[in-house]
Amino acid sequence: MILPIYTYGNAILRKVALPVKADYPDLNVVISNMFETMYHAEGVGLAAPQVGLPIRLLVIDLAPLKEEDPELGAFKIVMINPTILEKSNEEIAGEEGCLSIPGIHEMVLRAEKIKIKFLNTDFKEHIEEFEGYKARVVQHENDHLQGHLFTDKVTPIRRQLLKSKLTNIVKGKATCNYKVKSA
Ligand code: NI
Repeated sequence: MILPIYTYGNAILRKVALPVKADYPDLNVVISNMFETMYHAEGVGLAAPQVGLPIRLLVIDLAPLKEEDPELGAFKIVMINPTILEKSNEEIAGEEGCLSIPGIHEMVLRAEKIKIKFLNTDFKEHIEEFEGYKARVVQHENDHLQGHLFTDKVTPIRRQLLKSKLTNIVKGKATCNYKVKSA
């Protein structure tokens, strides 16, 4: 089922999400709805707060990148209760967008490498290291679980320039070709 995506201005996007318990009702359905919603909106990552659920859950599928980079394109993952354990000091700039902030793309600095702990869909603990674009997407989605958005990380000048666009999103004036729930 395709769910509406909560856009910038909704309070849930600013909340720290809560850990998911193993008895969370119909978690598999939630996960498959999140993938379906993300594919429909042509995104590569989605965090549960973006569909109105205040829980520590994120999905990523970089399949749209498979033409340019088959290894990236094969990256599909569900993370439950992720925690970043380590970040490299080295940061790299890269362009980001967000399904909750339609029409805005900005350069953001992110740690080049991360080590992260999470549970898979069987609630088994994994510790993995990611770098480059994978690390970027994981950090972006994990930020959603802390109530942080990529637009918080742009330079003050860029943020000033984005102000009116962000206000339009809050007012529900942004156009996009997927179902949204504005504030
Ligand atoms: Ni996002």
